[in-house]
Amino acid sequence: MSEQRSSEWYGGTDRNSYIHRAWMRRGLPENAFDGRPHIAIANSASDLTPCNAHLNEVMESVKAGVYEAGGIPHNLPVVSLGETQVRPTAMLWRNMAAMATEEMLRANPIDGVVLLGGCDKTIPSLLMAAASVDLPTVVVPGGPMKTGTFQGVPLGCGTDVWRLSEEVRAGTLSEEQFLRSESSMISSKGHCNTMGTASTMALLAEALGMTIPGSAGTPAVDARLLENSFETGRIIVELVNESRRPSTLITKGSFQNAIVALAAVGGSTNAVVHLLAIAGRLGIDLVLDDFDEIGSGVPLLVNLQPAGRFLMDDLYRAGGFLSVLKEVKDLLDSTALTVTGKPLVDYLENAQIWDQEVIHVRESPIIADAGIAVLRGNLALGGAIIKPAAATPELLYHRGRAVVFDSIEDMHARIDDPDLDVDVDSVLVLRGCGPKGYPGMPEVANLPIPSKLLEQGVRDMVRVCDGRMSGTAYGTVVLHVTPEAAVGGLLSIVETGDWIILDVAQRQLTLDVPESDLVLRRPSRATTDGFATPTRGWEHLYVTHVMGADTGADLDFLRGSSGYAVTRESH
Ligand code: FES
Repeated sequence: MSEQRSSEWYGGTDRNSYIHRAWMRRGLPENAFDGRPHIAIANSASDLTPCNAHLNEVMESVKAGVYEAGGIPHNLPVVSLGETQVRPTAMLWRNMAAMATEEMLRANPIDGVVLLGGCDKTIPSLLMAAASVDLPTVVVPGGPMKTGTFQGVPLGCGTDVWRLSEEVRAGTLSEEQFLRSESSMISSKGHCNTMGTASTMALLAEALGMTIPGSAGTPAVDARLLENSFETGRIIVELVNESRRPSTLITKGSFQNAIVALAAVGGSTNAVVHLLAIAGRLGIDLVLDDFDEIGSGVPLLVNLQPAGRFLMDDLYRAGGFLSVLKEVKDLLDSTALTVTGKPLVDYLENAQIWDQEVIHVRESPIIADAGIAVLRGNLALGGAIIKPAAATPELLYHRGRAVVFDSIEDMHARIDDPDLDVDVDSVLVLRGCGPKGYPGMPEVANLPIPSKLLEQGVRDMVRVCDGRMSGTAYGTVVLHVTPEAAVGGLLSIVETGDWIILDVAQRQLTLDVPESDLVLRRPSRATTDGFATPTRGWEHLYVTHVMGADTGADLDFLRGSSGYAVTRESH
């Protein structure tokens, strides 16, 4: 058996190696320290992350696979983020979770790691950590939940919460009926069942080559999830023995495959910041414009909410992720590898579509050119994004007058004011929601339609924001505007009544105000006397070091890899 990193702890006959072994014996077999791989199972199971609560069961299956392959598995609970629970927004803590996991992997006697994630930020933070510590790594996505129904209709969790709550505001659904749907919304273990961020990042982990091919999207309640988990335990030992690491597996071509997949499945816009952050950890030169250049000609093939009709268990039933990739095989990098050591494209041969309503064939796409459009212009010098598939086609070119909100609180206070000067052609602008400004870049860009317009039947308007949008949301929403208002982007001096032009075909977002007027304006409240800058703890570190959305909103000092070197001994 080859020499392992963990042998630096366990391999000697001196007092220090005695200490390391003695405290770890606790039931481990006598041969646990003979040089065999020690595998961490970075486990984001938590009762407060309900989408991941079942991952302890998954962890036990991974453990069994590791043992069978001759390794020694260790459960390593990691910082876990429940998207619907943590305040002020889970995105504030993504980088903290990534940093903590990276450091714990490096600090411990570990030779390889299996990442267990599910809810939105958990797979991204785990992949960022693994990329930086560069130990052999495999991901097990926890899988989507079983679909619940209400009054005979399947519920897309997340998406249908927005839809039903808007119906209450519009007066077409009673509050009592709305509340009755609550217990049907989440019907089993697993993450949200729409093509939201959790589903997207699970699929993209596979597109990056970091899962067993064919495993992403396996429902959380399906026995095959545990089969895949067992197999992952076996494979991670192989990766360690062959020293296959993220830096040797993931290339720019892997990200090309992820961006093609993102477009083909109609995935969450949040994938943009997560993929940019992961690439940054690997030192791969992925830029915002790559999402447009690689993704914009890719057909949308998957008919899932929020842009479409079906849900994640339908995608699995209809042939799964590999059958989607097979349809766009010519757009994939055929050399990009998976954790098995073989290219991703090698796994597409036997994939088959069983339901062409859910997964469209290439010849009859839902949208011919999907993907994410990257907008530029004086209002977004560093870029902004829009997902045309989730937008109203007639609004993809629009000139309207701005109605500006300085913060989420300002928006909530005024959005339903009958005296708000807004009409169907207005452009709703929400600022102070970027990485630094909020801080943490919350999912608020799809701000609600003013109720007086809802009552008139308006269901979509152009909205512009420096924050993010939930992957389960939809609408003509321009998001991730960079530079954000808090660092002095032009967004900070937009005034109510200004003309804004959105031109998606030309990739332009323009504040149509004479330059001579703009130079006379002062920065808005969003950049001057908004929320106090945090002075301690993580929030202080975050605000001091977070970068813009255009580079993934990671911390500047966390870019790149610090590697897996064993640090000094203290005993
Ligand atoms: Fe966890 Fe949606 S809240 S995936």
